[in-house]
Amino acid sequence: MAKRLTSYRSNIITPTKDGGLLTLEDHIISVQDGKILSIHPFTRHDGDWQDYRDSIALPGFIDLHTHISQFHIRGAHETALLPWLENHIFPAEKLCENYDYARNISTLFFEDTIKKATSFCVIYTAPFREAADAAFEVASEMKVKAKIGMSLMDNNSPEYLTHSTDYALSNSIELDEKWRDPTLGHIFSPRFALSCSAELMRQIGKYAQDNDSFIQTHLSENHDEIRQVIKAFDTNSYTEVYESFGMLTKKTILGHAIHLSDEELDIIKQSGASIAHCPDSNFFLKSGVFPYKRVKDKAIPFALGSDIAAGTCLFMPYHAKMMNYTQDDSTLISAEEMLYRITLKSAEILNLDERIGSLESGKDADISFFKLPQELDFSAQALSPFFFTNDIFELKQFLIDGNERL
Ligand code: GUN
Ligand code: FE
Repeated sequence: MAKRLTSYRSNIITPTKDGGLLTLEDHIISVQDGKILSIHPFTRHDGDWQDYRDSIALPGFIDLHTHISQFHIRGAHETALLPWLENHIFPAEKLCENYDYARNISTLFFEDTIKKATSFCVIYTAPFREAADAAFEVASEMKVKAKIGMSLMDNNSPEYLTHSTDYALSNSIELDEKWRDPTLGHIFSPRFALSCSAELMRQIGKYAQDNDSFIQTHLSENHDEIRQVIKAFDTNSYTEVYESFGMLTKKTILGHAIHLSDEELDIIKQSGASIAHCPDSNFFLKSGVFPYKRVKDKAIPFALGSDIAAGTCLFMPYHAKMMNYTQDDSTLISAEEMLYRITLKSAEILNLDERIGSLESGKDADISFFKLPQELDFSAQALSPFFFTNDIFELKQFLIDGNERL
Protein backbone atom coordinates (compact mmCIF):
# COMPACT_ATOMS: atom_id res chain seq x y z
CA MET A 1 0.00 0.00 0.00
CA ALA A 2 1.32 3.45 -0.87
CA LYS A 3 2.38 5.48 2.13
CA ARG A 4 0.24 8.51 2.92
CA LEU A 5 1.38 11.67 1.21
CA THR A 6 0.46 15.09 2.60
CA SER A 7 1.14 18.31 0.74
CA TYR A 8 1.37 21.80 2.18
CA ARG A 9 1.06 24.89 -0.02
CA SER A 10 3.05 27.72 1.52
CA ASN A 11 5.90 30.19 1.26
CA ILE A 12 9.27 28.95 2.43
CA ILE A 13 12.28 30.56 4.05
CA THR A 14 15.10 28.16 4.77
CA PRO A 15 18.80 28.60 5.60
CA THR A 16 21.59 27.39 3.32
CA LYS A 17 24.94 25.85 4.28
CA ASP A 18 26.88 29.08 3.66
CA GLY A 19 24.63 30.98 6.10
CA GLY A 20 22.47 32.43 3.31
CA LEU A 21 18.75 32.04 2.66
CA LEU A 22 16.49 30.37 0.17
CA THR A 23 13.18 32.21 -0.27
CA LEU A 24 10.51 30.26 -2.15
CA GLU A 25 7.11 31.80 -2.80
CA ASP A 26 4.02 29.64 -3.26
CA HIS A 27 5.60 26.19 -3.19
CA ILE A 28 4.32 22.72 -2.44
CA ILE A 29 6.08 20.79 0.32
CA SER A 30 5.20 17.10 0.02
CA VAL A 31 5.66 15.01 3.14
CA GLN A 32 5.71 11.23 3.19
CA ASP A 33 6.72 8.81 5.91
CA GLY A 34 8.05 11.60 8.14
CA LYS A 35 10.36 13.01 5.46
CA ILE A 36 10.19 15.86 3.00
CA LEU A 37 9.60 14.09 -0.30
CA SER A 38 9.83 17.15 -2.51
CA ILE A 39 9.62 20.93 -2.60
CA HIS A 40 8.51 22.49 -5.86
CA PRO A 41 6.67 25.57 -7.19
CA PHE A 42 2.88 25.17 -7.08
CA THR A 43 1.26 24.20 -10.36
CA ARG A 44 -2.42 23.64 -11.10
CA HIS A 45 -1.62 19.93 -11.55
CA ASP A 46 -0.84 19.55 -7.86
CA GLY A 47 -3.57 17.47 -6.23
CA ASP A 48 -4.85 17.99 -2.69
CA TRP A 49 -2.91 20.34 -0.48
CA GLN A 50 -3.33 22.04 2.85
CA ASP A 51 -3.56 25.77 2.53
CA TYR A 52 -0.82 27.73 4.28
CA ARG A 53 -0.51 30.41 1.62
CA ASP A 54 -0.89 33.02 4.36
CA SER A 55 2.13 31.67 6.22
CA ILE A 56 5.89 31.22 6.15
CA ALA A 57 7.23 27.69 6.46
CA LEU A 58 10.44 27.52 8.50
CA PRO A 59 12.52 24.56 9.70
CA GLY A 60 11.91 23.39 13.30
CA PHE A 61 14.10 25.34 15.71
CA ILE A 62 17.02 23.79 17.60
CA ASP A 63 17.90 24.78 21.17
CA LEU A 64 21.57 23.95 21.74
CA HIS A 65 21.65 24.40 25.54
CA THR A 66 18.89 24.17 28.12
CA HIS A 67 18.07 22.72 31.56
CA ILE A 68 14.80 20.78 31.74
CA SER A 69 14.77 20.47 35.56
CA GLN A 70 14.86 24.27 35.88
CA PHE A 71 11.70 24.89 33.85
CA HIS A 72 9.61 25.90 36.89
CA ILE A 73 12.09 28.45 38.17
CA ARG A 74 12.50 30.84 35.28
CA GLY A 75 12.81 34.48 36.25
CA ALA A 76 14.09 33.95 39.81
CA HIS A 77 16.40 36.91 39.91
CA GLU A 78 19.86 37.10 41.48
CA THR A 79 22.78 39.33 40.77
CA ALA A 80 25.23 36.62 39.69
CA LEU A 81 25.68 32.99 38.68
CA LEU A 82 27.02 31.42 41.88
CA PRO A 83 24.44 32.80 44.36
CA TRP A 84 21.71 32.08 41.79
CA LEU A 85 22.77 28.41 41.59
CA GLU A 86 23.04 28.12 45.37
CA ASN A 87 19.81 29.92 46.31
CA HIS A 88 17.43 28.97 43.49
CA ILE A 89 18.68 26.35 41.06
CA PHE A 90 20.15 23.68 43.30
CA PRO A 91 17.05 23.50 45.57
CA ALA A 92 14.82 23.38 42.45
CA GLU A 93 16.86 20.55 40.90
CA LYS A 94 16.66 18.55 44.14
CA LEU A 95 12.90 18.19 43.51
CA CYS A 96 13.64 16.16 40.35
CA GLU A 97 15.00 13.34 42.48
CA ASN A 98 11.35 12.29 42.53
CA TYR A 99 10.55 10.48 39.26
CA ASP A 100 6.91 11.60 39.10
CA TYR A 101 7.84 15.22 39.69
CA ALA A 102 10.54 14.94 37.01
CA ARG A 103 8.04 13.38 34.56
CA ASN A 104 5.60 16.18 35.14
CA ILE A 105 8.17 18.91 34.58
CA SER A 106 9.47 17.09 31.48
CA THR A 107 5.96 16.88 30.05
CA LEU A 108 5.31 20.59 30.63
CA PHE A 109 8.70 21.45 29.16
CA PHE A 110 8.15 19.51 25.92
CA GLU A 111 4.56 20.76 25.60
CA ASP A 112 6.07 24.23 25.61
CA THR A 113 8.87 23.46 23.12
CA ILE A 114 6.19 22.22 20.72
CA LYS A 115 4.20 25.45 21.17
CA LYS A 116 7.39 27.36 20.42
CA ALA A 117 8.17 25.38 17.22
CA THR A 118 11.34 23.79 18.59
CA SER A 119 11.88 20.27 17.34
CA PHE A 120 15.28 19.49 18.91
CA CYS A 121 16.75 20.41 22.33
CA VAL A 122 20.12 19.70 23.92
CA ILE A 123 19.28 19.19 27.58
CA TYR A 124 20.83 18.95 31.05
CA THR A 125 18.70 17.27 33.73
CA ALA A 126 19.14 17.47 37.50
CA PRO A 127 21.92 15.19 38.77
CA PHE A 128 19.62 12.22 39.47
CA ARG A 129 19.08 9.12 37.37
CA GLU A 130 15.33 9.54 37.98
CA ALA A 131 15.42 12.98 36.35
CA ALA A 132 17.31 11.69 33.30
CA ASP A 133 15.08 8.61 32.92
CA ALA A 134 11.97 10.79 33.13
CA ALA A 135 13.26 13.23 30.50
CA PHE A 136 14.21 10.44 28.06
CA GLU A 137 10.96 8.54 28.54
CA VAL A 138 8.75 11.59 28.13
CA ALA A 139 10.73 12.74 25.06
CA SER A 140 10.32 9.28 23.54
CA GLU A 141 6.57 9.12 24.28
CA MET A 142 5.99 12.65 23.00
CA LYS A 143 8.07 11.99 19.85
CA VAL A 144 10.30 15.03 20.27
CA LYS A 145 14.00 15.12 19.42
CA ALA A 146 16.75 15.69 21.94
CA LYS A 147 20.15 14.98 23.32
CA ILE A 148 19.80 14.55 27.07
CA GLY A 149 22.37 14.20 29.82
CA MET A 150 22.24 13.97 33.60
CA SER A 151 24.20 16.88 35.13
CA LEU A 152 27.23 15.31 36.79
CA MET A 153 28.20 16.64 40.22
CA ASP A 154 30.60 14.69 42.44
CA ASN A 155 32.49 17.54 44.11
CA ASN A 156 32.22 20.90 45.83
CA SER A 157 28.40 21.01 45.67
CA PRO A 158 25.55 20.91 48.21
CA GLU A 159 25.37 17.52 49.87
CA TYR A 160 21.80 16.96 48.67
CA LEU A 161 22.94 17.04 45.02
CA THR A 162 26.38 15.47 45.28
CA HIS A 163 26.89 11.91 44.11
CA SER A 164 29.90 9.63 44.15
CA THR A 165 32.19 9.63 41.13
CA ASP A 166 31.06 6.06 40.50
CA TYR A 167 27.34 7.01 40.53
CA ALA A 168 27.93 9.87 38.07
CA LEU A 169 30.06 7.75 35.78
CA SER A 170 28.19 4.44 35.82
CA ASN A 171 24.75 6.01 35.40
CA SER A 172 25.82 8.21 32.52
CA ILE A 173 27.59 5.32 30.79
CA GLU A 174 24.39 3.27 31.14
CA LEU A 175 22.39 6.13 29.63
CA ASP A 176 24.94 6.43 26.82
CA GLU A 177 24.61 2.73 26.03
CA LYS A 178 20.81 2.81 26.21
CA TRP A 179 19.91 5.96 24.25
CA ARG A 180 21.74 5.80 20.94
CA ASP A 181 19.31 7.16 18.39
CA PRO A 182 20.74 10.24 16.63
CA THR A 183 17.50 12.13 17.30
CA LEU A 184 17.02 10.90 20.88
CA GLY A 185 20.45 10.24 22.32
CA HIS A 186 22.63 10.78 25.34
CA ILE A 187 25.18 13.52 25.92
CA PHE A 188 27.70 13.38 28.80
CA SER A 189 27.02 16.44 30.96
CA PRO A 190 29.68 17.17 33.59
CA ARG A 191 28.01 20.33 34.93
CA PHE A 192 31.10 22.56 35.16
CA ALA A 193 34.63 22.31 36.53
CA LEU A 194 33.50 23.59 39.93
CA SER A 195 31.13 20.67 40.53
CA CYS A 196 33.30 17.86 39.14
CA SER A 197 36.35 16.04 40.44
CA ALA A 198 39.47 15.75 38.27
CA GLU A 199 38.94 11.98 38.25
CA LEU A 200 35.38 12.28 36.93
CA MET A 201 36.35 14.70 34.16
CA ARG A 202 39.33 12.54 33.13
CA GLN A 203 37.13 9.42 32.95
CA ILE A 204 34.41 11.22 30.99
CA GLY A 205 36.99 12.61 28.56
CA LYS A 206 38.47 9.17 28.00
CA TYR A 207 35.15 7.37 27.66
CA ALA A 208 33.74 9.97 25.28
CA GLN A 209 36.85 9.85 23.10
CA ASP A 210 36.93 6.04 23.03
CA ASN A 211 33.23 5.86 22.18
CA ASP A 212 32.85 8.96 20.02
CA SER A 213 30.23 10.37 22.42
CA PHE A 214 28.99 13.94 22.79
CA ILE A 215 29.93 16.03 25.87
CA GLN A 216 28.43 19.29 27.11
CA THR A 217 29.60 21.52 29.94
CA HIS A 218 29.72 25.17 31.02
CA LEU A 219 32.82 27.30 30.44
CA SER A 220 33.87 30.80 31.62
CA GLU A 221 30.46 32.27 32.28
CA ASN A 222 31.21 34.43 35.31
CA HIS A 223 34.32 36.07 36.84
CA ASP A 224 33.89 34.56 40.32
CA GLU A 225 33.41 31.12 38.78
CA ILE A 226 36.62 31.54 36.75
CA ARG A 227 38.63 32.69 39.78
CA GLN A 228 37.48 29.65 41.76
CA VAL A 229 38.30 27.24 38.92
CA ILE A 230 41.79 28.69 38.49
CA LYS A 231 42.42 28.35 42.22
CA ALA A 232 40.95 24.86 42.58
CA PHE A 233 42.83 23.39 39.62
CA ASP A 234 45.98 25.51 39.89
CA THR A 235 45.81 26.23 36.18
CA ASN A 236 46.53 29.07 33.74
CA SER A 237 43.04 29.09 32.34
CA TYR A 238 39.58 27.52 32.67
CA THR A 239 39.77 26.10 29.14
CA GLU A 240 43.02 24.28 29.95
CA VAL A 241 41.24 22.36 32.73
CA TYR A 242 38.88 20.75 30.21
CA GLU A 243 41.69 20.35 27.68
CA SER A 244 43.92 18.58 30.19
CA PHE A 245 41.17 16.04 30.94
CA GLY A 246 40.58 15.26 27.26
CA MET A 247 37.11 16.81 27.35
CA LEU A 248 37.51 19.01 24.27
CA THR A 249 36.62 17.14 21.08
CA LYS A 250 34.66 17.76 17.88
CA LYS A 251 31.64 16.48 19.81
CA THR A 252 31.96 18.88 22.75
CA ILE A 253 29.49 21.74 23.24
CA LEU A 254 30.68 24.48 25.59
CA GLY A 255 27.94 26.59 27.18
CA HIS A 256 28.54 30.37 27.42
CA ALA A 257 32.32 30.74 26.80
CA ILE A 258 32.23 34.47 27.50
CA HIS A 259 35.48 35.48 29.18
CA LEU A 260 38.22 33.86 27.12
CA SER A 261 41.78 34.85 26.20
CA ASP A 262 43.05 34.49 22.63
CA GLU A 263 45.03 31.43 23.77
CA GLU A 264 41.84 29.82 25.07
CA LEU A 265 40.02 30.55 21.82
CA ASP A 266 42.94 28.91 19.96
CA ILE A 267 42.66 25.80 22.14
CA ILE A 268 38.93 25.56 21.44
CA LYS A 269 39.45 26.10 17.73
CA GLN A 270 42.13 23.41 17.51
CA SER A 271 40.00 20.92 19.44
CA GLY A 272 37.05 21.29 17.04
CA ALA A 273 34.66 21.95 19.96
CA SER A 274 31.64 24.24 19.55
CA ILE A 275 30.01 26.92 21.66
CA ALA A 276 26.38 27.26 22.76
CA HIS A 277 25.83 31.01 23.05
CA CYS A 278 23.06 31.94 25.51
CA PRO A 279 22.57 35.71 25.27
CA ASP A 280 19.35 36.04 27.30
CA SER A 281 20.92 34.13 30.18
CA ASN A 282 24.11 36.18 29.97
CA PHE A 283 22.14 39.38 30.47
CA PHE A 284 19.77 37.94 33.08
CA LEU A 285 22.71 36.94 35.30
CA LYS A 286 24.89 39.91 34.29
CA SER A 287 27.52 37.38 33.29
CA GLY A 288 28.98 39.48 30.49
CA VAL A 289 28.93 39.96 26.73
CA PHE A 290 29.71 37.04 24.41
CA PRO A 291 32.85 37.79 22.35
CA TYR A 292 30.89 37.34 19.13
CA LYS A 293 33.42 38.94 16.80
CA ARG A 294 36.44 37.15 18.24
CA VAL A 295 34.68 33.77 18.12
CA LYS A 296 33.55 34.41 14.55
CA ASP A 297 37.01 35.60 13.47
CA LYS A 298 38.50 32.35 14.79
CA ALA A 299 35.81 30.39 12.91
CA ILE A 300 34.78 28.52 16.07
CA PRO A 301 31.35 26.94 15.44
CA PHE A 302 28.60 28.42 17.58
CA ALA A 303 24.81 28.42 17.76
CA LEU A 304 22.14 29.48 20.24
CA GLY A 305 20.73 28.06 23.45
CA SER A 306 17.84 29.20 25.65
CA ASP A 307 19.66 28.18 28.87
CA ILE A 308 16.43 27.88 30.82
CA ALA A 309 16.20 28.96 33.70
CA ALA A 310 18.77 31.75 33.42
CA GLY A 311 17.20 32.17 30.00
CA THR A 312 13.61 33.21 30.43
CA CYS A 313 11.73 31.44 27.63
CA LEU A 314 11.91 28.60 25.12
CA PHE A 315 11.14 30.63 21.98
CA MET A 316 14.37 30.46 19.98
CA PRO A 317 13.68 33.49 17.72
CA TYR A 318 13.62 35.58 20.93
CA HIS A 319 17.11 34.28 21.76
CA ALA A 320 18.24 35.19 18.24
CA LYS A 321 16.95 38.71 18.86
CA MET A 322 18.88 38.79 22.14
CA MET A 323 22.03 37.74 20.26
CA ASN A 324 21.54 40.82 18.15
CA TYR A 325 20.62 43.16 21.04
CA THR A 326 23.51 42.18 23.30
CA GLN A 327 26.17 43.19 20.78
CA ASP A 328 27.19 46.82 20.27
CA ASP A 329 26.64 49.05 17.26
CA SER A 330 29.81 47.86 15.52
CA THR A 331 28.36 44.37 15.10
CA LEU A 332 25.87 43.73 12.34
CA ILE A 333 23.83 40.56 12.80
CA SER A 334 21.34 39.97 10.00
CA ALA A 335 17.98 38.21 10.20
CA GLU A 336 19.38 35.44 7.99
CA GLU A 337 22.19 34.82 10.46
CA MET A 338 19.65 34.83 13.29
CA LEU A 339 17.74 32.04 11.52
CA TYR A 340 20.92 30.12 10.74
CA ARG A 341 22.02 30.04 14.39
CA ILE A 342 18.76 28.50 15.63
CA THR A 343 18.52 25.93 12.81
CA LEU A 344 21.19 24.73 10.38
CA LYS A 345 24.29 25.78 12.34
CA SER A 346 23.04 23.89 15.40
CA ALA A 347 22.27 20.87 13.19
CA GLU A 348 25.83 20.96 11.87
CA ILE A 349 27.26 21.12 15.41
CA LEU A 350 25.15 18.05 16.27
CA ASN A 351 26.37 16.23 13.14
CA LEU A 352 22.74 16.06 12.04
CA ASP A 353 22.74 18.49 9.14
CA GLU A 354 21.88 15.69 6.71
CA ARG A 355 18.60 15.25 8.60
CA ILE A 356 17.49 18.50 10.26
CA GLY A 357 18.06 22.26 10.29
CA SER A 358 16.64 23.22 6.88
CA LEU A 359 13.76 22.43 4.55
CA GLU A 360 15.11 20.22 1.76
CA SER A 361 13.85 17.05 0.15
CA GLY A 362 15.09 13.96 1.98
CA LYS A 363 15.27 15.72 5.34
CA ASP A 364 13.03 15.10 8.38
CA ALA A 365 9.71 16.91 7.98
CA ASP A 366 10.19 19.23 11.00
CA ILE A 367 8.32 22.28 9.74
CA SER A 368 6.65 25.29 11.36
CA PHE A 369 4.03 27.47 9.65
CA PHE A 370 3.92 31.02 11.01
CA LYS A 371 1.04 33.18 9.79
CA LEU A 372 2.16 36.46 8.22
CA PRO A 373 0.54 39.53 9.78
CA GLN A 374 -2.03 41.06 7.43
CA GLU A 375 0.04 44.10 6.62
CA LEU A 376 3.01 42.05 5.39
CA ASP A 377 3.45 40.42 2.01
CA PHE A 378 5.71 37.43 1.72
CA SER A 379 9.36 38.12 0.83
CA ALA A 380 12.79 37.56 2.38
CA GLN A 381 12.23 40.90 4.15
CA ALA A 382 9.50 39.29 6.27
CA LEU A 383 12.21 37.54 8.27
CA SER A 384 13.29 40.76 9.98
CA PRO A 385 9.91 41.56 11.60
CA PHE A 386 9.59 37.85 12.38
CA PHE A 387 12.65 38.13 14.62
CA PHE A 388 12.28 41.64 16.01
CA THR A 389 8.55 41.68 16.87
CA ASN A 390 7.80 38.99 19.39
CA ASP A 391 4.21 38.07 18.76
CA ILE A 392 2.74 39.27 15.47
CA PHE A 393 3.42 35.99 13.67
CA GLU A 394 1.10 33.29 14.96
CA LEU A 395 2.25 29.65 14.88
CA LYS A 396 -0.51 27.92 12.90
CA GLN A 397 0.91 24.43 12.56
CA PHE A 398 4.01 22.54 13.55
CA LEU A 399 5.18 19.20 12.19
CA ILE A 400 7.76 16.91 13.76
CA ASP A 401 8.62 13.97 11.49
CA GLY A 402 5.56 14.90 9.46
CA ASN A 403 3.18 14.58 12.45
CA GLU A 404 0.95 17.62 12.97
CA ARG A 405 1.44 18.76 16.55
CA LEU A 406 -1.04 21.62 16.94
N1 GUN B 1 26.91 26.72 35.41
C1 GUN B 1 26.80 25.56 36.07
N2 GUN B 1 25.51 25.17 36.15
C2 GUN B 1 24.80 26.09 35.52
C3 GUN B 1 23.40 26.25 35.26
O1 GUN B 1 22.56 25.45 35.63
N3 GUN B 1 23.04 27.37 34.55
C4 GUN B 1 23.94 28.29 34.12
N4 GUN B 1 23.52 29.35 33.45
N5 GUN B 1 25.24 28.16 34.35
C5 GUN B 1 25.68 27.09 35.05
FE1 FE C 1 23.36 26.30 31.31
